[in-house]
This record gives sequence, C-alpha cells and structure tokens, in this order.
Amino acid sequence: MKDNYYFDNAATTWPKPEPVYQFMDSFFRSHGVNPGRSGSELAVEAEQMIFSTRRMLGEFFGFSGDPNRVVFSLNATDSLNIALRGLLQQGDHLVISELEHNAVLRTANHLERDFGIGVSRVKPDQQGFIDPAQIESTLTSATKAIVLNHASNVVGTVQNIRAVAEIANRHGVTFIVDTAQTAGVLPIDMSWGIDVLTFTGHKGLYGPMGIGGLIVGENINLKPMRFGGTGVDSASPFQPDGYPHALEAGTLSMPGVAGLNAAQKWFAELGTNTEAADSSHQTLCRAALEHIHHTEMAHVERIWTHLSTLKKVTTLGSLADGEHIAVVSFTVDGIAAQQVAEMLDADYHICARAGLQCAPGVHENFNTTGIGGAVRVSPGYFTEQTDVDHLLASLTELLG
Ligand SMILES: Cc1ncc(COP(=O)(O)O)c(C=O)c1O
Repeated sequence: MKDNYYFDNAATTWPKPEPVYQFMDSFFRSHGVNPGRSGSELAVEAEQMIFSTRRMLGEFFGFSGDPNRVVFSLNATDSLNIALRGLLQQGDHLVISELEHNAVLRTANHLERDFGIGVSRVKPDQQGFIDPAQIESTLTSATKAIVLNHASNVVGTVQNIRAVAEIANRHGVTFIVDTAQTAGVLPIDMSWGIDVLTFTGHKGLYGPMGIGGLIVGENINLKPMRFGGTGVDSASPFQPDGYPHALEAGTLSMPGVAGLNAAQKWFAELGTNTEAADSSHQTLCRAALEHIHHTEMAHVERIWTHLSTLKKVTTLGSLADGEHIAVVSFTVDGIAAQQVAEMLDADYHICARAGLQCAPGVHENFNTTGIGGAVRVSPGYFTEQTDVDHLLASLTELLG
C-alpha cells in the first residue's frame, strides 16, 4: 500500500505538474522583488511575467479584450465577492442556483440580508442540472446579474452555460460564471456571452493556493470593494479607475502568478502531443483539456460502475444523464459519510472528502443533509490506474 491515494482533486489538485514547482521556486529566488513597485530591471521582468500570465489566461478563457482585465485575486471566493459586491446595489435582484458553492450561496445570503438585494435561487432537476428556462422565468426588471457554476463540486453536473448566456445577454443581465470546477478541465469561453468569469488557481488550473482571478468583460464596470496601493497614480486620493489596478489593491502573490504562468505553459506543452507546436496558445490548451478530461472521466467511469455493484451504496445523480466532470459522490446505507471517509483514510490511506462539501443546497436537493452529506471521490489527471484499482478493492472490502 502507498502512503497516500489522493482522491480529493475537487478540493485542490495534487500533485501539480513538476514545472509549476520548479518555476515558482526559481522565479521567486531570482526575482524576489515587488512587481510594479519599482523601475528596476528585476521589477520590470517580474511585471512582464505577470502580464504574460494575464495574456495567456485571457486566451485560455477565450477573452479577446485587454489582458489587463484579467484581474488577480486570492481564490474563486474572493473573485466572486469582488464581482458581486462590485456590481450590485440596494434594490437590485440576483439570480443564483441551489447548486452553488458557499462562495456564492453565503455571499448572496449576506447581500440579501445586509445590503437589501433580492435573491432568487433556482432549483436543479433530480440529476443536478439547471434548466435555463427556469432561470429566465425568475428574471425581473430589477435583475442585475445571474451567477452560476459551470459544474457542481458535489454531483459534477455541467451546466448549459451557452444557453444561460444567451438568455442573460437578451435580457441585458450581467452573467457571471464560477469556473472553479471546470477551469483546466473543460473549455469555457468568454465569447459565449459571459460577462465576468471567475477562477481559482489551485484546482484544475494547477497553480498553488492563494491565487485566483476574474476576467471582467469590456462592457462591465465593477466598483472596487478594496482600496489601497497599486504602485501607480500614488498621488491620487482614490483607487485608480484603470484595470487591473481598480480591483487589485496591495501586493500580488507573485509566486502564485508564477505558478499559474508555468501551469499555462504546461497545458500548451501537453497540447503539442496532438496539435502543431506553433498553434495558438488557446488551441494547444484546448487539446490538452480534451486529453485531461478524457483521462479523468475514464477513472470516473470505472469508479461509478464499481459503486453501482455495491448494494449499500447510492450515488448522487447519474453519469448517464448529461455532461459531467470527474466528481463522484455517494452515500452508504447505515454508515455516516464521515465515518466512511475516516475508514478509507485510516485503513486504506485513501483521501476522500465527506460532508456537505461547502454546497448545502445540493444536499438539500438530494435529501442527504440529514445523514451528514455524502462521500466524494475526485480523481485527477495524475491519478494512476493502480490508484483506482486500490480504491475499488478498498470499497469492496469495506462496503461490499
Ligand atoms: C464550484 C466552486 N465554487 C467556488 C469554490 C471556492 O473555491 P476557493 O476555495 O478556491 O475560493 C469551490 C471550491 O471548492 C467550488 O467547488
């Protein structure tokens, strides 16, 4: 048995590609300066590395606007707060789904309770999909924004973002997409009609924790919710209007950006296995995503098939319906989710996640709140067949 079989990639991907570790270490050693805060050669080079990361991420997400509108933050939660609080004012109406992560649910709850913003919460169907027509039916003349995750972190269902974008655009409503679970796994394109795209660095984008971001469409203006130094316009008493400085107050996580930079190049390199090396960054990365998603889903199909043979086990949703990412959640008759995860960890060195996975609305819809949620296993690109063999054999021994 190995020391660790990691099946919690939906929480954070691990390990990262080797070049990510290497570049973070080498760049932090060679360029340990404060980017944008001095005119020194090193500071300019650090600034260039950051700008090239904005450019690569913009292309990665199909954004054809100014790369400076790729704004860095701490994580997806931070990005969603920046977007929602920067956009909404008292009297506005917001539409979310009940499948959202607490990054959206709690933010919406606070906006509703503390800031006088109306919130509608759209229910998923029994498999965990949102019907875009249901979203349209909740729109009012006060609706300012719709926020939806691209995929659920509990049931792995992928939502029809293009259809919702079309509705939002037609009604003049700002459409914000939370790509925490799909960035680096599935193509997602601002050109589909997305106004604000939020991402986190430490999941499928293969960066470290502590870095995330948002892409703010050219027609969208977000009011800053944080104020402070930017290294530019220091005499101005207020936050500068221009991007990224309007939304980036204080020193950036330069090692975090370096991690994303190396990860972007790693995606492109992976894509050269199927595309010509001189193809665009986006084309190379899209080829890499196809390969990554295919690899992960092969693991998930094995896990799902195996779980369906275990009598005491019930999976949430069904792989047969609609598009999914590599997340499988299940419950076990008579054993609490937490206990299953503890046994998997203690007896088989398997790292899974039990509970409500920060998405209580999903569990309400699947009637799993009262039994302490579900066990979630999420293989990643670096999961090996032998890891899955071990997981399946352990599940049989434990629950068969
Ligand atoms: C769908 C979704 N949104 C938002 C988040 C929050 O991400 P972070 O913790 O990086 O802010 C997560 C994390 O699990 C998630 O799965």
